[in-house]
Amino acid sequence: MIEVSEIRKQFGEVRAVDGLSFKVAEGEIFGLLGPNGAGKTTTISMLSGLLAPDSGTITVAGMDASRGDRRVRALMGVIPQEIALYEELSGRENLHFWGGLYGLTGAALKRETDRVLDMVDLTDRADDQVGKYSGGMKRRINLCAGLIHSPKIILLDEPTLGIDPQARIKILDIVKKEAESGTTIIYTTHYLEEAEELCDRIAIIDKGAIHAEGSLAELVDLVGEEDMITVTGDFKSWKGDNLPEGVRLDHMEEGSLRFYISRKDSLGSLLNSFFGAGISVESVSIREPGLQGVFLKLTGRELRD
Ligand SMILES: Nc1ncnc2c1ncn2[C@@H]1O[C@H](COP(=O)(O)OP(=O)(O)O)[C@@H](O)[C@H]1O
Ligand SMILES: [Mg+2]
Repeated sequence: MIEVSEIRKQFGEVRAVDGLSFKVAEGEIFGLLGPNGAGKTTTISMLSGLLAPDSGTITVAGMDASRGDRRVRALMGVIPQEIALYEELSGRENLHFWGGLYGLTGAALKRETDRVLDMVDLTDRADDQVGKYSGGMKRRINLCAGLIHSPKIILLDEPTLGIDPQARIKILDIVKKEAESGTTIIYTTHYLEEAEELCDRIAIIDKGAIHAEGSLAELVDLVGEEDMITVTGDFKSWKGDNLPEGVRLDHMEEGSLRFYISRKDSLGSLLNSFFGAGISVESVSIREPGLQGVFLKLTGRELRD
């Protein structure tokens, strides 16, 4: 549905986007995960036709999208990072404005406005001024503005930035439902858990380039991330020698040991070695590897939420 090849965008000396390529299939949720300044917004602006790339190509549904083609724009709903609403108008009036820009009029405009308001649970507050809304409510209306024309493709640029947990859950829910109904989605975020929870495929972006791309499982495999095991108990008599294969001791303190294991079956051997040595184990916790470790290994930096 979307094919991006070697796009670049430079602002003065800053290479905001530096040779980015990726493909997104129909109905897929594709995540661009990266810190502030990684080039996410610049990428979204080029996809939506707002900015022309310095070089490279963007193809959407078989059409060249790098020229701001109207047919391409009609397929897309864009939810920008900066909220684009008129504060002095009501939520409903804002949506009438946006719907009008997408060519909706009369009964269809009214119907679609009601549909999206209902979707984000803002029907009751629709006639209040946007200026009186909470941050989460503004985000939800912003989302509506990009969905009012039932686009085939949705570009969301950090749509949950700085909002309350409930509004966040609502937004993630809507994105999932849209994808289930076949809409293609590009979702940018710097929240690891959002990318993990939501995206079918994730591209890790930093300094204008993609460092790795794949499903969560593929990314974790790629860097060979290990499970982290924390064991609590009484280890006074433990000597710490003869660790089973695939087990690495990482941290030790009174009553608690932390290991990394590279093979799942090593955990059994480890626990057996404790039982064999007469050590009483109180608890075992396992943390499976996630994007945090992947990001650190690929970029040498932490991605903090
Ligand atoms: N219009 C602009 N003029 C100059 N520099 C810009 C402009 N837009 C973005 N940049 C720079 O390009 C880089 C990427 O920015 P951006 O795409 O906004 O990243 P992100 O959305 O991942 O935070 C940053 O270094 C930013 O300062
Ligand atoms: Mg941004």
